[in-house]
Amino acid sequence: MQSAEHNRQWRVAAYPEPGELISSRHFEWATNPIETPRDEEFLVRTVCLATGPAQRGYLQAEPSPFLGQVPVGEVMRGRGVGQIIESHHPDYRRGDIFVGSLGWQDYSVQKPRGAEFVFSTKKVAEPMRPLSAELGLLGQAGATAYFGLHEAGDLRTNDRVLISAAAGGVGSVAGQIARLRGAKQVVGIAGSAGKCQWLVDELGFSAAINYRDDDVDRRLGELFPEGIDLFFDNVGGELLDTALNHLALGARVALCGFIATDYAAGPQAGPINYRNLVARRARMQGFVVFDYWERYGEAEQQLRRWYRDGQLKNCEDVAEGLEHMPAALASLFTGANRGIKLCQVAPDPEGLPRLEAATA
Ligand SMILES: NC(=O)c1ccc[n+]([C@@H]2O[C@H](COP(=O)([O-])OP(=O)(O)OC[C@H]3O[C@@H](n4cnc5c(N)ncnc54)[C@H](OP(=O)(O)O)[C@@H]3O)[C@@H](O)[C@H]2O)c1
Repeated sequence: MQSAEHNRQWRVAAYPEPGELISSRHFEWATNPIETPRDEEFLVRTVCLATGPAQRGYLQAEPSPFLGQVPVGEVMRGRGVGQIIESHHPDYRRGDIFVGSLGWQDYSVQKPRGAEFVFSTKKVAEPMRPLSAELGLLGQAGATAYFGLHEAGDLRTNDRVLISAAAGGVGSVAGQIARLRGAKQVVGIAGSAGKCQWLVDELGFSAAINYRDDDVDRRLGELFPEGIDLFFDNVGGELLDTALNHLALGARVALCGFIATDYAAGPQAGPINYRNLVARRARMQGFVVFDYWERYGEAEQQLRRWYRDGQLKNCEDVAEGLEHMPAALASLFTGANRGIKLCQVAPDPEGLPRLEAATA
């Protein structure tokens, strides 16, 4: 990994067409001087960057009011964890570890003003190696799985649970939480035989369905003869529609994301089997993880405890080097990632204690 004396950046070069896979073509590599922080500002050196399908949504010619567009020519927006290396703010000291919207670059000047800053950033109280966990298991991926299951999904002991994109970042954490909370059965849907085997052998899923090769409808019928109590859906489209046919009485469907249809070209068909919600007295509920930001500490503490006890695995898939950030984002759409996809930009600062699991 190259150490940066200047600020290497990925800037937005062009918006992808609907249905087009995101690639390095949509970004421009730039090298600029490192900015100097002024009064009430501080300079952060990026250590690790998160990826998320929503980042594709920042790059739409027709901006989404929900996600907000990044204008062409600007540094690509993205969450990251880094270390403060210079500060002119009394509450943020040199050496502190900081999580926030750092952008796809080595250095960023942060200005702690406004509600958005307060709600989307944090100074890490007890930083540990790997800092990437602050973005993944103990960060947004973990919080999304935790609050999506408990709040939108109303997770209950003995639930029969189905999770789509189960071998991805959010899905791999959600499946493990459901198991730890006493679900009777946790079935994952993923896009390859290798991912399906990994879910069962390594993460303790009861079974897994390969949506590319298996007949999903038939497998759901076999695996859930009494129906699905909770479906945590990351995918939408046809998979959602198929699963709606297999709901148990009083089922809950937690709508986390819809990567299958989000950026597809042309008009999308809506679900037709939603009619089954009536017969099964079921409900579908969407959620946005940021609504729970004041409770992130609760999720973090629980996830940290499970991890330390060796009950929960931290499944990271880390690209090495800022130059790989476009490919890291693209991997979410091709399914090349397994677990939480992150990009290590600089080594973790020295001297931090290690986040240890009792049994690995
Ligand atoms: N509601 C919220 O607040 C919130 C917050 C964060 C994330 N999210 C959502 O959570 C979901 C997971 O995000 P993540 O960051 O953890 O990504 P991820 O699951 O690590 O990566 C996306 C996965 O989706 C699968 N996939 C891609 N295209 C697909 C398709 N056409 N059909 C079926 N599966 C497909 C791929 O795995 P396969 O190999 O299995 O295809 C890929 O690994 C996304 O929908 C995201 O938008 C929601």
